[in-house]
Amino acid sequence: MENLEELKAEILNQINQANDLKQLDDIRVAATGKKGRLTEQMKSLGALPLEEKIALGKQLNVIKTEFEAAFEAQKKILEQKALNEKLATEKVDVTLPIRPEIQGRIHPVSKIFEEVAAIFGQMGFTVAEGPDIEDQFHNFNALNMPANHPARQMQDTFYLNNDPSKPFDMDTAYVARTQTSGIQIRTMEKQQPPIRIIAPGRTYRSDYDATHTPMFHQVEGLVIDKNITMAHLKGCLYDFVKAFFELDELPVRYRPSYFPFTEPSAEMDIGCLKTKTELKVGAGTDWLEILGCGMVHPNVLKAGGIDPNEYQGFAFGMGIDRLAMLKYGIPDLRTFFESDVRWLKHYGFTPLDFSSMTGGLSNNGGLAR
Ligand code: DAH
Repeated sequence: MENLEELKAEILNQINQANDLKQLDDIRVAATGKKGRLTEQMKSLGALPLEEKIALGKQLNVIKTEFEAAFEAQKKILEQKALNEKLATEKVDVTLPIRPEIQGRIHPVSKIFEEVAAIFGQMGFTVAEGPDIEDQFHNFNALNMPANHPARQMQDTFYLNNDPSKPFDMDTAYVARTQTSGIQIRTMEKQQPPIRIIAPGRTYRSDYDATHTPMFHQVEGLVIDKNITMAHLKGCLYDFVKAFFELDELPVRYRPSYFPFTEPSAEMDIGCLKTKTELKVGAGTDWLEILGCGMVHPNVLKAGGIDPNEYQGFAFGMGIDRLAMLKYGIPDLRTFFESDVRWLKHYGFTPLDFSSMTGGLSNNGGLAR
């Protein structure tokens, strides 16, 4: 047998010196575990004469109880210590600004898409889509654009060989869509009137300067029903521009124009003030063209499988990037596509600022700037 008093003193000392819970548990196992020193002492009682066995047995039990009490006490101390350490390292200063700072921003073009969808959504339009790589039927032919139309010439349109196993064939080649107008046809093919859609999307033309990029964005609009007139077109687009520029009053005019897919065709101008340094919408005596529109040409309705004797409609198309430049005062279109985080931080919008007609288009919560 070991000297029990020494054993007791040694182990109690170890318990009190323990620095953390793991160490304390190791001490407990080494003392009272299956092969612990105290346990071994208990096992060796069997070989002793009865009286000694009783006396030593009692003593060992008392020591064991003392150990258990000491373990519990030390455990509480160490648990509190661990908690304090954790609290010290996890301390937060709630007066500091949030970290990490939110980096993501909604691109102005996406923001304008959302705004346009919110405005037309409230007028009962739904959003339609079409492919970026389009066939010539949908991009041109069905839109009453004959093969000799200037927009079909190579310098404007990106043509793509649709069959790599054969030489390039201009007649069957696909195009990177030059306009979202093809979605008018795709919608008519899928859906009978009444039709009320807008179609946002990327468009492509071979052009590059401060106001033109080879990839840009448009929103198309199409309304077809019985008895649709030019008055509907004018009222609808007038309501749209006022809502879009967040102005109660905005001078507008419709100027006669030409598009192959509409008859009559018009361009819509909004009143503005142009100076060398700024362009202010809604004031002044200058005009700025913002979209093309017109009554859908009967040939286009026919190409889409709709009887022009029964139905009429109006259509419109506008460049989204220009609207973004105008609304948010961005001077150079090329910067839209440079993926410069500093630019996006300056001109972008916080993701939680939803555009809605009731909550506000761009002013709810303010710009990210
Ligand atoms: N697709 C025309 C363009 O890219 C814009 C346009 C004009 C669309 C008149 C229309 C429209 O739907 O009616 O320049």
